[in-house]
Amino acid sequence: MRRIAIANQKGGCGKTTTAVCLALCLKDMGNRVLVTDMDPQGSTTQSLYPNREAIQHTVYELLMDSDTVPVSSVLTNIDEGLDLLPADVILSTVEQLLSGRSERESRLRKVLSRVDEDYDYVIIDSPPNVGILTFNALMAADEIIIPVDPSLFSLQGVGRVTDALDLLENINGHTTTYKVLATMYDSRTRISRELLAALKSSYEQSCFKTIIRNNVTLKESTGFGVPITQYRGSRGLSDYKSLANEVAGNDATQKFIETEAMENFLAPRRIGGGILFSYMDSEADSIVVQGDFNSWNGGRDALLDVDGRGLWQRVGSLRPGTYRYRFVVDERTVVDPNNNFTEYVEEKGLVSVVEV
Ligand SMILES: Nc1ncnc2c1ncn2[C@@H]1O[C@H](COP(=O)(O)OP(=O)(O)OP(=O)(O)O)[C@@H](O)[C@H]1O
Ligand SMILES: [Mg+2]
Repeated sequence: MRRIAIANQKGGCGKTTTAVCLALCLKDMGNRVLVTDMDPQGSTTQSLYPNREAIQHTVYELLMDSDTVPVSSVLTNIDEGLDLLPADVILSTVEQLLSGRSERESRLRKVLSRVDEDYDYVIIDSPPNVGILTFNALMAADEIIIPVDPSLFSLQGVGRVTDALDLLENINGHTTTYKVLATMYDSRTRISRELLAALKSSYEQSCFKTIIRNNVTLKESTGFGVPITQYRGSRGLSDYKSLANEVAGNDATQKFIETEAMENFLAPRRIGGGILFSYMDSEADSIVVQGDFNSWNGGRDALLDVDGRGLWQRVGSLRPGTYRYRFVVDERTVVDPNNNFTEYVEEKGLVSVVEV
């Protein structure tokens, strides 16, 4: 079993998104995967199991009594080949309750050693600080992924994690390897480009080749508990598939330049007297665009599969102005995966925004 913790004390750098999407992609490759949520915010739990009120047992019980509580009583099955050790806000009390107790940093490691044979991968999400929960995650893992979004704090966070790893090695003799993962990369911004260059030069040997780009479908999928693997054709999915390949020891599969060009091609474009909407999906049977310009009823605004191979397009004749829209792919509503401009609309959720 390979145990991988995702850590960076900087909040919002993509830890949970990485834990969830990597786990889903590894599972889709045929692996047996266990996700362990070590963050009292419970975002990983929420994302994999949106009906989280139904969860009765959490990882808290295992940490407080790592010898006798059976792991199976806490395991929540998500899908074939995917289990979760869920968390909720109670987990935040562990910090205080365990202080002064023996082996308080190795409790999760002990728990996971009891399910060693049952999984190919354990992915552990950690909270945005370096306390007892993060130490447990780092101690339980043999490999660490450090996500870094385009911000200076996030880059500084890498040093904090590696300091913690040094500490664990000196005190407990626990050795790990780590790799840095660039997340939320947006090639249009200078800070993204500069920080990526800094990351590559500082951590040349310990950087994933895969870069996770800023992508609205990732925001949507983790926020609404829809598995990213259901967003066919999303670059968020293809980036995490590439990461899963690298983690599994294969080459990164990301084709960066081609996909960047493709995205620009698919983004909504001004054309003649309106906007050209595009969507790539070779498996869909019908796609319509609905927005405030057609009262969110796309009945007459169907896209056509123009090349017969899944490039769906439609020109919407729109007067100058700002419009909100989304696609309905078969029965499912989705934001435009190639348009990073979004807004929340009451009763609709996250929708895309275009200006004519
Ligand atoms: N590649 C991405 N593109 C766009 N949005 C993203 C991307 N990765 C993550 N997000 C969004 O950014 C926000 C923060 O991401 P996430 O929750 O994964 O970070 P985190 O490090 O787990 O945060 P915390 O430190 O609070 O646990 C979420 O709304 C998520 O949907
Ligand atoms: Mg998180």
